[in-house]
Amino acid sequence: MQLLDTHGRIATDLRVSLTDRCNLRCQYCMPPEGLDWMPTEEVLADDELIRLIRIGVELLGVRDVRFTGGEPLLRRGLPGIVAATKALEGTPRTAITSNGLGLKHTARALAEAGLDRVNVSLDTTDPETFRTITRRDRLDDVLDGLAAAKAAGMTPVKVNAVLLRGINDLEAPDLLRWCLKHEYELRFIEQMPLDAQHGWSREAMVTADETLALLSEHVDLEPQGGRGSAPAERFLVDGGPQTVGIIGSVTRPFCGDCNRVRLTADGQVRNCLFAREESDLRAALRGGASDEDIAHRWVAAMATKLPGHGINDPSFLQPTRPMSSIGG
Ligand code: 5AD
Ligand code: SF4
Repeated sequence: MQLLDTHGRIATDLRVSLTDRCNLRCQYCMPPEGLDWMPTEEVLADDELIRLIRIGVELLGVRDVRFTGGEPLLRRGLPGIVAATKALEGTPRTAITSNGLGLKHTARALAEAGLDRVNVSLDTTDPETFRTITRRDRLDDVLDGLAAAKAAGMTPVKVNAVLLRGINDLEAPDLLRWCLKHEYELRFIEQMPLDAQHGWSREAMVTADETLALLSEHVDLEPQGGRGSAPAERFLVDGGPQTVGIIGSVTRPFCGDCNRVRLTADGQVRNCLFAREESDLRAALRGGASDEDIAHRWVAAMATKLPGHGINDPSFLQPTRPMSSIGG
């Protein structure tokens, strides 16, 4: 069995949200007061989660497992979940997308558990701008977390940045210089309409083209081919070898090559970040379904995967779940 959709795409990259909670409040994600978190009993327990990941990997062809949130490091069982995933048939590649808080304390344990890669969200290296965007004064903790991930050998360490017009857009070249100096691979992601407060606007979004123009005033960028199903278009910086990535989620969508499927912390399969429907694997699992039953439900959930996210269609409707409870 495989996770094939009606447009011929096969999902082999599973994104698992481990919690909808977070210790930052990034403007493009959450309101300052946070959200009504998922009740604990609705969140999959570690063993339930590991069972679903096993079904994905051993019955459905998943090859990559990325743990996201909210903030995945807030999940106590993370090293155990990573180790259990790594022990599955075919040894899937593992990664996390994290805000980096607390990573300085856990990077080594995670690497020892078999975590291969880390993506850390960092939109600025200016403490004031950091506080404006994340509404918390924790820049140094993120920088320490990045350094710890590199020291633990989870390289290349990637940095994800979202540019916000009038807030950190003009800092983009500084952020790039800083990442080059520390050998982190920087990628700029266009802001998507996934914030809980529905505050996204096309005008405020800094586009891939604008980001390229901003960077090109300071460095020479040479496009690298071969994007494949990777969302980032990569550019050699000043002749290389280091690169910068631009993820034009909105203006240069990569949906046609998408190989992703998502599992929320409460056990719902989503075939797209922007899906308006979910498939309830938790109910099946808690209702005594067999691995085969669950695998069939999962396969069926892929059938409704739409060809694209539709953000650029007039009829686009933002999904009801915010990014923080879907996972990045
Ligand atoms: N648009 C684009 N990226 C976002 N992220 C969070 N919210 C948004 C959004 N609305 C990023 C985070 C993190 C990853 C999970 O996605 O910065 O790097
Ligand atoms: Fe937390 Fe990530 Fe949302 Fe920022 S973007 S509030 S780090 S979940």
